[in-house]
Amino acid sequence: TRVVLLGPPGAGKGTQANAIASRLEVPHISTGDIFRRAIEEGSDLGLVARAHMVSGELVPDGITMTMVSRRLGEEDASKGFLLDGFPRNVDQARYLDETLRRSGDVVELVLELHVPAEDIVRRLSGRRMCGQCGRSWHVEFNPTRVEGICDTCAGSLHQREDDHQDSVRRRLELHERETAPLAGYYQDKGVLSRVDAVGTVEVVSERVLAVLIAHS
Ligand code: AP5
Ligand code: ZN
Repeated sequence: TRVVLLGPPGAGKGTQANAIASRLEVPHISTGDIFRRAIEEGSDLGLVARAHMVSGELVPDGITMTMVSRRLGEEDASKGFLLDGFPRNVDQARYLDETLRRSGDVVELVLELHVPAEDIVRRLSGRRMCGQCGRSWHVEFNPTRVEGICDTCAGSLHQREDDHQDSVRRRLELHERETAPLAGYYQDKGVLSRVDAVGTVEVVSERVLAVLIAHS
């Protein structure tokens, strides 16, 4: 299955992605995670990406698209994938359609996580990321058993560099302007499913799974 996960920053895309990807047995491909890994490794891609990401700007399309098509060409993505954070604007969506069309494939399902703006700010300000496995936790809404230590891998937690106020404001602006229009783009293609993402992580997971079951 070829699925795209849409939703504003902090909607819970990364949090829900693990459950969805393992249910569908497809790789979870997050452009944000790929960029953060590149930054950590200190590669050229990481240097360029970081320059845009810290202030909440988008990484230029050319770089992002090349990276995604390379990733989609890998063996594990041939039967399906869960894209998280890509596409992020209409040009990227058209590029994705074009890339898939060459192998006779299409995006089959787009899950849009819907969360009001006030919740987003609370989710992002309390988010803590694991430096080792990249999982995100929340000091209040999704705490780890031991403060500052990842439940999954025992890595230590830190705050994301782009989760401070100014970057968050910019990310939300760009989401409204560039990414939100994708819901209409996919609705016109008849593949959009909207999920209410307010509620606990478990409740939202159940709603997401219900959509996946209805779709399969
Ligand atoms: P990216 O990593 O994609 O960031 P984002 O879209 O801003 O999304 P987030 O990771 O912030 O949120 P999420 O929805 O995954 O939420 P999470 O599950 O962590 O991109 C980062 C940057 O990379 C971009 O700004 C851009 O610069 C660049 N980039 C990436 N892709 C690009 C592209 N295609 N083109 C150009 N540039 C690109 O949850 C958030 C918090 O809420 C966590 O603390 C979590 O524990 C908590 N939480 C989750 N669910 C719930 C719940 N139900 N109730 C309460 N709390 C919850
Ligand atoms: Zn971890």
